[in-house]
Amino acid sequence: MSSAMSEDPSGAPARVIAIANQKGGVGKSTTAVNLGAALAELGERVLVVDLDPQGNASTGLGVDRAARTVSAYDVLTGAADATEATVPTGVDGLLLIPATVDLAGAEVEMVSQFSRESRLARALVGVLGEFSFVLVDCPPSLGLLSINAMAAAGELLVPIQCEYYALEGLGQLLENVRLIQQNVNPRLRLTGIVLTMFDPRTRLADQVVAEVRAHFGAVVYESVIPRSVRVAEAPGFGQPITRYDPFSRGAEAYRALAVEVLKRGADEGFEGWEVGMQKGGDR
Ligand SMILES: Nc1ncnc2c1ncn2[C@@H]1O[C@H](COP(=O)(O)OP(=O)(O)OP(=O)(O)O)[C@@H](O)[C@H]1O
Ligand SMILES: [Mg+2]
Repeated sequence: MSSAMSEDPSGAPARVIAIANQKGGVGKSTTAVNLGAALAELGERVLVVDLDPQGNASTGLGVDRAARTVSAYDVLTGAADATEATVPTGVDGLLLIPATVDLAGAEVEMVSQFSRESRLARALVGVLGEFSFVLVDCPPSLGLLSINAMAAAGELLVPIQCEYYALEGLGQLLENVRLIQQNVNPRLRLTGIVLTMFDPRTRLADQVVAEVRAHFGAVVYESVIPRSVRVAEAPGFGQPITRYDPFSRGAEAYRALAVEVLKRGADEGFEGWEVGMQKGGDR
């Protein structure tokens, strides 16, 4: 694990994990909500930062729009600090910085501002000691919001949907990671890929799993998230799957993923995927 993170006297600093993939609908928000809940269930102190104007992670955690008075937008613009924007969720130990639609404007407003890529990183410094994990849910684009998430993170977790074109766009994502490493955040590593919406009835799903494992090896988590109606229903009730249907396959899969995420962080030798590699030694 990276030892370069700033230490806070109140405890070991949080592992900041950006959950990103510019492809839409691959399970980023579902993973932020359910991995966050599963980690909290294991006794971790978790903060989910909803950095998507769609606000799906906020909805999924039961924080409705009326309750989003101070939001990630205020944190990025400096109008509020991270603590002021943090709200509780229905899960003990799981807190949220919610998103509002004005985040879409933040992307444009920040363009001309000083150190616009590092707004989130700076805002989080003061609270890293209060959490063991900060999970940042990114929007489906590689704009300034996702860049802020990756600039603040030590780890990148990429959900990949077990579907046709699963790997499409991944090269572009990794190229962005390389640029962020070079220019803003040398600590950033691709430390995890999670396969989502796996349907065992299709041979295609097996092929995608095999292909992703062949390409990325140990960085791909063993736990595969099944496609499940219960997982899809849960956000409508403002609950993570671990609450909505605690003994479902989806809940078990996200719990298994949480255990793997914990283990990976404890493994000193795990450096993640060397992002420069696929560029033929160009790094
Ligand atoms: N394991 C699953 N089984 C069934 N449905 C799922 C599963 N995971 C996610 N979904 C559903 O698929 C849709 C997309 O998931 P999600 O919102 O998590 O993706 P996303 O990558 O965050 O999307 P966006 O790019 O729009 O932010 C949602 O309707 C969600 O409920
Ligand atoms: Mg989302």
